[in-house]
Amino acid sequence: MPTRSKRLDMIPPYLFAEIARVKAEAIASGADIIDLGIGDPDLPTPQPVIDELTRSANDPATHRYDETPRGWTSFLEAAAEWYAKTFGVSLDPSTDFAQLIGSKEGLAHLAWAYIDPGDISIVPNPGYTVYKVNTLMAGGEVYETPLKFENGFLPILEDIPTEVAKRAKLFYVCYPHNPTGATATKEFYADAVKFCKDHDILLVNDMAYATVAYDGYVNPTVMQIEGGKDVAIEFHSLSKMFNMTGWRLGFALGNTDAVNNLQRLKSNIDSKQFPAIAEAGAYALKNVDNTHTIAMYQRRRDLLCDGLNSIGWQVTKPKSAFYVWSRVPAPGMTSAEFCKELLQRAHIVAIPGNGYGTEGEGWVRMALTLSGDKDGERFAEAVRRIAASGLVPAK
Ligand SMILES: Cc1ncc(COP(=O)(O)O)c(C=O)c1O
Repeated sequence: MPTRSKRLDMIPPYLFAEIARVKAEAIASGADIIDLGIGDPDLPTPQPVIDELTRSANDPATHRYDETPRGWTSFLEAAAEWYAKTFGVSLDPSTDFAQLIGSKEGLAHLAWAYIDPGDISIVPNPGYTVYKVNTLMAGGEVYETPLKFENGFLPILEDIPTEVAKRAKLFYVCYPHNPTGATATKEFYADAVKFCKDHDILLVNDMAYATVAYDGYVNPTVMQIEGGKDVAIEFHSLSKMFNMTGWRLGFALGNTDAVNNLQRLKSNIDSKQFPAIAEAGAYALKNVDNTHTIAMYQRRRDLLCDGLNSIGWQVTKPKSAFYVWSRVPAPGMTSAEFCKELLQRAHIVAIPGNGYGTEGEGWVRMALTLSGDKDGERFAEAVRRIAASGLVPAK
């Protein structure tokens, strides 16, 4: 067999192997695991969306290639309508949108559409690893902006060296942010737009969690900023919004050139999804109200955060996304050591923060998407177990 490409060796090793091993051991011994690891909505896709898929699947018009340039027309129109209704910004579905096989696919391929050897992507640390890995595989370099608690997990633009800004082509940001749950302000977006304009950089805003927000909070978007569309492309997803992670459906919007470049690459790689999926996605964007799901995450968030705070583990409630990001409470333990102990002593899975970058060391991520939880009772149980584990020093 031939050897794999050198490019493939750039993919970093799987950091959670040890956690996966201890988890498998605990499951084999019959332990009752509370898995706060992966962020994947536990409720099923709303039934009307599934019904629409069934209806569309029976329509022979969906049985052929989608030959449109950027995506299934009714889907892109529904996306534009949803964006205008949710964020008050009207964009043209025929030029400013592209359908994606989930936003991950688009975020990854954007690097391949823009990065040549010697080019730089500015990426968040901690952050979703897709931006970095694809930039490296495309032959580029990354400059990691440290996201610090004291700065609200926003990058400090003045700290980015001019030499880096000169060579940078892409600036990936992600708000609401995975893993910290941080949100962006309009002021930050305005500064980022100016920075990208000054340095001729494409601003890439990953908004996979755009509508997962609590206490009535509404996230701002970069397209609301004057000049935003001149320098930015934004990525949205139906995954978290409508419990559709397995359907693989998302869209990019914004700068027409950027959308075209992404689509140009994609048209040489994929031929879009089964159009019935796009039809069901259009139905969801037009009709589904996710208030009930958000209320459920909010209740879980409150039970977990209030509970942990009451036992002396100081955690901040996220305004958006479904992750609680908190400092390792046990003195002297790394993120990985703490997560291993938590799993062994309390049978709770949490993700060590260093899996998202060096700045995540000392932090832990806990997801609010727990299968089998009905009304927060498993989160209350998690707090009881953590209290009993002895891992949180007494107040
Ligand atoms: C920050 C972030 N962006 C993008 C994605 C990808 O979502 P999808 O490909 O399901 O749209 C995820 C998934 O977990 C994510 O956490």
